[in-house]
Formats: sequence, structure tokens, C-alpha cells
Amino acid sequence: MKILVTGGAGFIGSAVVRLAVRRGHEVINLDALTYAACLDNVAPVADSPSYSFEQVDIRDAAAVENCIARHAPDAVLHLAAESHVDRSIDAPGVFIETNVKGTYNLLQSARALWERRGRPETFRFLHVSTDEVFGSLPADPSVKFTETTPYNPRSPYSASKASSDHLVRAWHETYGLPVLLTNCSNNYGPYHFPEKLIPVIILGALAGKPLPIYGDGSNVRDWLYVEDHADALLTVLQNGQPGRSYNIGGENERTNLELVRTLCGILDRLRPRADGRPYAGQITFVSDRPGHDARYAIDPSRIREELGWRPSVTVEEGLERTVQWYLSNEDWWRALQDRDGVGRRLGTGEAGA
Ligand SMILES: NC(=O)c1ccc[n+]([C@@H]2O[C@H](COP(=O)([O-])OP(=O)(O)OC[C@H]3O[C@@H](n4cnc5c(N)ncnc54)[C@H](O)[C@@H]3O)[C@@H](O)[C@H]2O)c1
Repeated sequence: MKILVTGGAGFIGSAVVRLAVRRGHEVINLDALTYAACLDNVAPVADSPSYSFEQVDIRDAAAVENCIARHAPDAVLHLAAESHVDRSIDAPGVFIETNVKGTYNLLQSARALWERRGRPETFRFLHVSTDEVFGSLPADPSVKFTETTPYNPRSPYSASKASSDHLVRAWHETYGLPVLLTNCSNNYGPYHFPEKLIPVIILGALAGKPLPIYGDGSNVRDWLYVEDHADALLTVLQNGQPGRSYNIGGENERTNLELVRTLCGILDRLRPRADGRPYAGQITFVSDRPGHDARYAIDPSRIREELGWRPSVTVEEGLERTVQWYLSNEDWWRALQDRDGVGRRLGTGEAGA
């Protein structure tokens, strides 16, 4: 299949690109190369004749149209987005432009291609979204997000993703475009940009810095290993039913504090501190994120029962692999630590409009 992947130089997009090329697909990686991108993420497949790269900003409708018309893909797998909640609190405008307007531009160009080709039933537009569109869950472990949970986004990021989800559904209902949607939980794994919680903790621990935990650390997330997620996305792309959405979770709920303590324990074994003291001693509680959602948890019944997909690793296995990857790839993360905003506390709500 010829797949145009947007955001393929980012964290999840690059995992999708690597897996899709390895599985024999032809992949066009469309990415604007924002602060969050790194072409080294796709270096393992960049020399493949099945891989090509297009530097395109999805906010630019003409450039998107030109790229999609030229490559005429069989499927668009849309991951390009502004993705960091803290940045959306400080500067929401670009989240609306990229996540909402950019998705609209892609839908229009994909629709034009699909109509020119005679509306093939096999065409797919897979939109990758987040469980954050559903809002915040109570602590009761029996309550989880299903595909029919009402939308209740509470941050500029999740509101922009919810808006894009609505556009994608509307293009299916109104024009018949064969779309698929996925809403996934928090991803982690190799190539995770160093502003997100797990790399912040690993790299902060190694540097002997305080390990910041927002609030009291009781916020619960359902952790999904990024390579499992990439596999789930290709499963949905190939076997999902057009017009349908699929929740993708890791079946690994942990509080942020539990997660950070697990990471500290892995580091204590793999790279003990010079003074022999536990890394957990570096944990520091900091002021909470404004509007911080208490709990996210995915009910993965639909993707499991209809498509036979489930995650392959537990969070302990995935975190061990992730820590090992960061310990072995210092050149990768050192080069990203100078990027704008990395290493600074963002999203306190004090940055102004
Ligand atoms: N990371 C998670 O835990 C998570 C969870 C749920 C959903 N998602 C969704 O998955 C997708 C990928 O997330 P990620 O964590 O890999 O993000 P990321 O920030 O690591 O990567 C985003 C990529 O999109 C590109 N991009 C941004 N703006 C663009 C523009 N205007 N035009 C073209 N390219 C642009 C960036 O250059 C970058 O390569 C996003 O849509 C995100 O909302 C992520």
C-alpha cells in the first residue's frame, strides 16, 4: 500500500514510518519539521527505496494539495499535530492552526484525490487522535473511555484535537470519504521528545536534577508502548471499518508517581548513581498544571474484539526497554536539549496570550 504519513518525523509518526517500511509499504513522510521533529527518528529506514520525505506545512493548503496530488497515495495516516498540552496553555493559536485548519486542508486534498479517482472504496484517511478529547475520569477503575464516551475536552490541545475529530467524521457523513479514527492513551518509548514526562525523568535523573512531579502525582494515565501503537494503527488502517473509531490503550494504568518511582528503580539497577543513593531521592513535587485531568483509561474492547489487537508489552517491560534505549542513544537526546523550551517549565498559565 502507498501510505502518506503526516508527522512522520515526530515521536509516534516515526514509529509508524519505520514499521510500515519494514512491512513492505511505500511510505511518503510529510512533515513541516517543527521544534518537535527529528529526521534521525527515521534514519533506520531513510535509505529504503520505499521511503521518501516531503517538507510540507499542513497549514499551507496549496502545498498539501500539491503533495497529495503528486504522490496519489492509497491512504493518508494523519499524525502531524502540535502535541504538547503545556505548550497549548502558553500559546494555543498554533494548535488551532495546525490541528484544526491543517486537518481540514488534508481532508479537502484527500477528498479531491479520492473523487478524481472515482471514489475507490479501498481509499483510507486514518486520523490519529487522543483519549484527552473525552476529558477526565473519576478514580473508579470500572469507568473507562469507550468509543461512545461523550467528548469533553478541557485543554486547548484536547479541544483542538476534538475539533479535528469532528471534521473527520463530518467528511465521512457528508462526502462519504472512507475515514477511520483512533483515540489512544499516553505513548512512551524510544525517540520520545525530551519535553515529555518519561524522558524528562530519565534525563533529569542522569543529570542529577530534581525530578518534577505535577501536583501530588496522583494523576492516572494508561501507558501505551509506541511500537505497539504503531502496530495498532497499521491494523486499523488495513482492517478497520470506514466511519468507525477505535480506542487504543496499553492496559497499563499507573499514577504519575508510581510511574516515576518505577523509572527510578530501573535506573538504580541499570545506571546506579555514583553515590549509590536511589534516584527516587531526586523526586520533587511542583505546582500542578492548570486544568490537569485526573485520570485517563481506555476500554480497548472494540479493537480487541473486532480487530484482534492487544498490546504486546507490560509497562514494566516497555519502561525497561525505553530506559535502555536512552542510555544507548545519548547523541540523539543531547542534540535535542537545546531546542526552544526544552528543560523549562511550560504551561503554568502565566505566559499571557
Ligand atoms: N504522544 C502521545 O502520547 C499521544 C497520545 C495520543 C494522541 N497523540 C497524537 O498522535 C499524533 C502524534 O503525536 P506525537 O507525540 O508523535 O507528536 P510529536 O509532537 O512528537 O510529533 C508531531 C510531528 O508533527 C509535525 N508537525 C507539527 N506541526 C506540523 C505542521 N503544521 N505541518 C506538518 N507537520 C507538522 C512535527 O514536525 C512533528 O514531527 C498527534 O496527532 C497527537 O495528537 C499523541
